[in-house]
Amino acid sequence: MNLFSFQNVNKIYPPYFKALININLEIKEGDFIILTGSTGAGKTTLLKLLYREEKPTSGEIFYKNISYSELKTRQFNQLRQKWGIIFQDYKLFPDLSVYENIKISLILSGKKFKNMKIFIYEYLERFLLAHKAQKKIKELSGGEQQKVGVIRALIRDPEVLIADEPTGNLDPDSIKEILQILKEFHNKGKTIILATHDPIIINQKLGKLIRLKQGELINNVELFE
Ligand SMILES: Nc1ncnc2c1ncn2[C@@H]1O[C@H](COP(=O)(O)OP(=O)(O)OP(=O)(O)O)[C@@H](O)[C@H]1O
Ligand SMILES: [Mg+2]
Repeated sequence: MNLFSFQNVNKIYPPYFKALININLEIKEGDFIILTGSTGAGKTTLLKLLYREEKPTSGEIFYKNISYSELKTRQFNQLRQKWGIIFQDYKLFPDLSVYENIKISLILSGKKFKNMKIFIYEYLERFLLAHKAQKKIKELSGGEQQKVGVIRALIRDPEVLIADEPTGNLDPDSIKEILQILKEFHNKGKTIILATHDPIIINQKLGKLIRLKQGELINNVELFE
């Protein structure tokens, strides 16, 4: 069974800009999807439809054969609670500390932790960010903020990870660290949908490479598995 599927999905932004054109896509449980394509190709739009920040203009999206249009907000939020989302614009709380931003995400995941503080610090150390734990987000550099956005999503050990350009502002060492975690995730059978044009990631030849061009999926899915 597909975890997600898009059937004839179109997205038109008002007044009339076709951001996605007739998208048909199937995502299976355990897939590692790399979604690529130039700036403005529609990658973020496709991910926004997936986590339902935007609705399709026409066509349907399914989660395990249930149409999104049949899922009530409360039901969808329950599903989403088990996902991790890395937003292209981070969506952090600028006036809260690094530690608090991550802690809120962990609490909202509903999981129980024996020692949340140690757990958070372990992740921060992995990304060389422990010394910034008590700093407010707005006091961090762009790359540091991006790292927090990444940690916040990964630390919940989500069943589905949706990542929108998670490495755009990062140095090669941080990118390697993220790649390592993504591989661990994938090996655990989790589903990853990652939008990127980062050659370091694409050259790893992980999963399925899918290309968008001016809103259309180019029909040459490259299978790396
Ligand atoms: N809210 C919006 N209203 C109108 N047009 C939009 C909106 N959001 C995106 N677009 C347009 O839709 C197109 C696709 O945007 P999208 O953000 O999905 O591209 P992208 O592939 O993620 O690009 P990037 O690599 O720069 O992140 C762009 O031309 C953009 O200008
Ligand atoms: Mg984008």
